[in-house]
Amino acid sequence: MADTEGIDVVDCTRCPELTESRSQIVNGTGTPDAAVVFVGEAPGGDEDREGEPFVGRSGGVLDEKLAERNLDREGVRITNCVRCRPPENRDPKTEELANCRDFLDHEIRDIDPALIVTLGKVPSEHLLDRSVAVTNESGDVAETRIDDRSYRVLICVHPAATFYDNSQEATLDSALDTAAELAGVDPDEGGGGSGQSRLGEY
Ligand code: URA
Repeated sequence: MADTEGIDVVDCTRCPELTESRSQIVNGTGTPDAAVVFVGEAPGGDEDREGEPFVGRSGGVLDEKLAERNLDREGVRITNCVRCRPPENRDPKTEELANCRDFLDHEIRDIDPALIVTLGKVPSEHLLDRSVAVTNESGDVAETRIDDRSYRVLICVHPAATFYDNSQEATLDSALDTAAELAGVDPDEGGGGSGQSRLGEY
């Protein structure tokens, strides 16, 4: 198994406001051999306290949805566009996204996943470099290039969207069904890609 040594950010002061507001840098978690990388926006308060992405209320939804598909957070990779909590949980600024981009690119390149799932508008627009109507486009497969490599990106609503709008749960479920299928997850084994990937069909 690859290790996370080169992927984890140990120290960074590129964003003065975030350096001030964070208690710690929140690196990605899960296996560096993952077939699927989930990319969120930025750590919130729970993540900032615990040092792990998606461990708060949205993380509870994500864990539940992964488990329903025989996936768990150890078998996939979960990371964020920005690794430090923005003050008051505001959206990351353009320059903060840019400052953190090479860490995300490095993580994706090292893991070399069959599929990237972008959770919400910010990561979808960040990785696809265009505006995204995330509810309408959730479940759509797109492509992004990092250096000379092309990666499949599945656009997905953010798990927190289900807190404000019940109808978003079906949208999330449907996109995650597609993610599990595209990554070739064996429903009896799980593990983020133990079966035959269907990505070649897209
Ligand atoms: N929302 C995100 O986008 N990322 C997290 O780590 C937690 C909540």
